Amino acid sequence: MASVVYCLLLTCLISSSKSVEEFLSLDCPTEHHGVYGQRSLVKCIAKANMGEITTIKHVTWKKGAERVLMVTAGKLEMEKDGFQFADPDWKVNMNTSLLLTNTKMSDMGEYECMVWTDVGHKTAKTHLSVTAKYQTPTMNSIQGENIKDNTDVTLFCNATGGDQIGSIQWFDEFGTNWTPNSELVGSKTENGLFNLSSRLVLKDPSSNYTCLVFNARGVQEGKASLSLQLMSMSGRDDQTSGDLHARYVAPLVIIGSLIVGLLVTVLICRRRSRKARRPSAAPLMSDGHHPVTTEEYVDP
Ligand SMILES: *[C@@H]1O[C@H](CO)[C@@H](O)[C@H](O)[C@H]1NC(C)=O
Ligand SMILES: *[C@@H]1O[C@H](CO)[C@@H](O)[C@H](O)[C@H]1NC(C)=O
Ligand SMILES: *[C@@H]1O[C@H](CO)[C@@H](O)[C@H](O)[C@H]1NC(C)=O
Repeated sequence: MASVVYCLLLTCLISSSKSVEEFLSLDCPTEHHGVYGQRSLVKCIAKANMGEITTIKHVTWKKGAERVLMVTAGKLEMEKDGFQFADPDWKVNMNTSLLLTNTKMSDMGEYECMVWTDVGHKTAKTHLSVTAKYQTPTMNSIQGENIKDNTDVTLFCNATGGDQIGSIQWFDEFGTNWTPNSELVGSKTENGLFNLSSRLVLKDPSSNYTCLVFNARGVQEGKASLSLQLMSMSGRDDQTSGDLHARYVAPLVIIGSLIVGLLVTVLICRRRSRKARRPSAAPLMSDGHHPVTTEEYVDP
């Protein structure tokens, strides 16, 4: 019993003295950042503090529980696809930084670097975050070209490749914000990226719409514009009625005024002839009972 306690105590003493490790340090920032589809560096540099010449014996890089790179007895034993030492001279430089040659969304997570040298060993942990930018959005309208008046127009603005669900805003050429009328659908693809599709239904469309794509952090990442090929029936009607005016209305006005002129002339002539007959007609008119000659009221 006593020996067991003694043994435990000894282990404790040994491990605590070992964990001091003032001879070796690992310079490993706790946060790293990578971009989807690009190379990412996870920095971790071993340093012998007393300046003595140190030899790396073993290195293990783990992502979560999975080993992605391993050196045993100074020899590179395994490298997972897409992972390698960032510095080809890692042995000399003691630069045990990890390089991801083509960063994927699934590479995001906790990493652990363990380095054993002849002066001791050290472990460091770091986190890698990965972001991805939305590609330039594509736009289309269901109705295509030659959109007739009084038909609803449905516009789409689709963006692919974001790291989280972002948002899409809509504006017309006058700067009016149509976003409240739109509907956004976000979907996750098998590579861990997100696609956005925003649908905007318009009752009385304007001629040019712009959509802006924002990432989840509110930063604009893309923009696209679409000109609608409106057939503009009302515009055509205006033009046709203009033609009608020129072709029919003007001649009608001329003919009409000619008729009116003719009537006026006829009236004046009659009045003149009546005035000439007035002396004989006056007594008849003054008694007021005599019916007026119908001749005068005949509609010419
Ligand atoms: C370690 O190697 C990487 C890749 O070559 C380099 O970017 C980094 O600066 C090196 N760090 C040091 C301290 O040498
Ligand atoms: C956008 O997505 C919608 C729905 O998935 C689809 O109907 C439309 O054709 C897409 N438009 C473009 C330009 O990809
Ligand atoms: C539509 O409007 C946007 C912004 O006002 C402009 O940048 C774009 O060139 C216009 N597109 C067309 C085809 O007129």
